[in-house]
Amino acid sequence: MQFFIDTADVGEIRDLAATGLVDGITTNPSLVAKTGRPFLEVVQEICEIVPGPVSAEVTATDHPTMLAEGRKLAGLAPNVCVKVPLTPDGLKTCKALTDEGTQVNVTLCFSAAQAILAAKAGATYVSPFVGRLDDIGAVGMDLIGDIVEIYAAYPEIRTQVLVASVRGPQHVIEAAKLGADVATVPPAVLRAMFKHPLTDKGLDGFLADWAKTGQTILSDEDGHGEPARRSA
Ligand code: G3P
Repeated sequence: MQFFIDTADVGEIRDLAATGLVDGITTNPSLVAKTGRPFLEVVQEICEIVPGPVSAEVTATDHPTMLAEGRKLAGLAPNVCVKVPLTPDGLKTCKALTDEGTQVNVTLCFSAAQAILAAKAGATYVSPFVGRLDDIGAVGMDLIGDIVEIYAAYPEIRTQVLVASVRGPQHVIEAAKLGADVATVPPAVLRAMFKHPLTDKGLDGFLADWAKTGQTILSDEDGHGEPARRSA
């Protein structure tokens, strides 16, 4: 499973990219607005930090303008993935951009019928919003299961399922169990995935017992933080 981080906050992206666990970034107009910064500048900066796909969303709703915006966004960096909403004009734009070799993430997907159309339009990714379905009493993960099942029936479908609107680690676990290709997670969710009280307790115990030995692994002769030297 690939992990994308769902944010336009460059500081968060730098911090989490350092873990080596970040495969890409997704943004949307709301996340960009939160930064208070110029959109195009933020996208370029993110593309320099993370080599993987960086989703940047068009804001027009008519095909001609969406296409022009998409081409401009794609021109910002080779790893820009243009995001379009799942509307007739959005899928028209998706088809035109993918035909030009641009990666497209079709977003705001809330049904299997929509996901079938996104695949038909040649989307690189489809983004079903599981959290927002849960918010209205539906079961977002049921949609992921349906899409994964449908896509698996057609080997010619290359569209990847990018689980979005993720509210916690459980969404990531369930998405992985279903075989989704990507989960895009808010920074807080990725950080939460590291945490378990028994890990903290166990590490504290190991270190307390180690301290009693009075030993250290590194001595003054060792280079601190150098890669291990293999004996010949
Ligand atoms: O990428 C889509 C995601 O940002 C939406 O999340 O929490 O606003 O439903 P949310």
